[in-house]
Amino acid sequence: MAKVPRLAAGRARALGVPTRGTTNPNRLRRVDRWLVGTPSVQSVLDSPTPLVVDLGYGATPVTTVELAARLRTVRPDVHVLGVEIDPERVAAAKPFEDPPLLEFRRGGFELAGARPVLLRAFNVLRQYTEPEAWQSWSTMISRLAPGGLLVEGTCDEIGRRCTWVLLDADGPRTFTLASLPATIERPSDLAERLPKTLIHRNIPGEPVYDLLRALDARWATAAPFVPFGPRARWVETVRLLAADGWPVLDTRRRWRLGEITLPWSSVAPAGT
Ligand SMILES: C[S@@+](CC[C@H](N)C(=O)[O-])C[C@H]1O[C@@H](n2cnc3c(N)ncnc32)[C@H](O)[C@@H]1O
Repeated sequence: MAKVPRLAAGRARALGVPTRGTTNPNRLRRVDRWLVGTPSVQSVLDSPTPLVVDLGYGATPVTTVELAARLRTVRPDVHVLGVEIDPERVAAAKPFEDPPLLEFRRGGFELAGARPVLLRAFNVLRQYTEPEAWQSWSTMISRLAPGGLLVEGTCDEIGRRCTWVLLDADGPRTFTLASLPATIERPSDLAERLPKTLIHRNIPGEPVYDLLRALDARWATAAPFVPFGPRARWVETVRLLAADGWPVLDTRRRWRLGEITLPWSSVAPAGT
């Protein structure tokens, strides 16, 4: 079982600040489904001692409890540690502990000394500035176990519109948009849920702006698919984008879930 090191008493400085604790049951189901179904994530969970950290779980630890249950379907002995900077939220989570498989601890971007193979940080960076968000990425990836992965993203209150970035120790690798297509008028509706490192870049001249406009244009072209339902229209939208040379990484099986994943280089802010 993974052993989670503790920072020495008196040296434990949690990096970051408490923010609003909004969360909801099942809010993070889309990213969890993607994590469980993504080969690179499955491989990191193959570690002999798989430790996963959920950073910033909010007012209740419900999404951490759900993450643990979902990961157990692919790795029954996975150890999940919820880390939260607000001490009252850590105290509120204690009754949900199931040691050693599920634990909660106070900490910040330094991860309370843990070295996870997988780190999920969802809806944590919204209230930080963009420079702080970039800095937090550096801090968090520096704390990963060798070969470890960070998934950092944002979604609406009920998890129907989500975006996230997968990073390894070298930086961002992929970018994913995921939604329930029945709830969008057009793909660029997801712009309001972009990660902090991209949300200010949805402006002309920036790659993420071009991607969202390109998706909107294919969504319009895919209008003849409306009678087959919004999911079929989304699949056709992504197929058209890929056919036009965009480096779409995933396959039709994932598009049917309302997803699209591209290399980070497709959206990396101009000049980075
Ligand atoms: C909006 S809640 C998100 C809850 C949950 N992850 C979700 O997506 O539903 C954000 C939480 O992140 C916590 N937080 C903010 N900065 C943090 C940091 N640096 N380290 C740990 N927790 C942090 C806040 O205290 C808050 O409880």
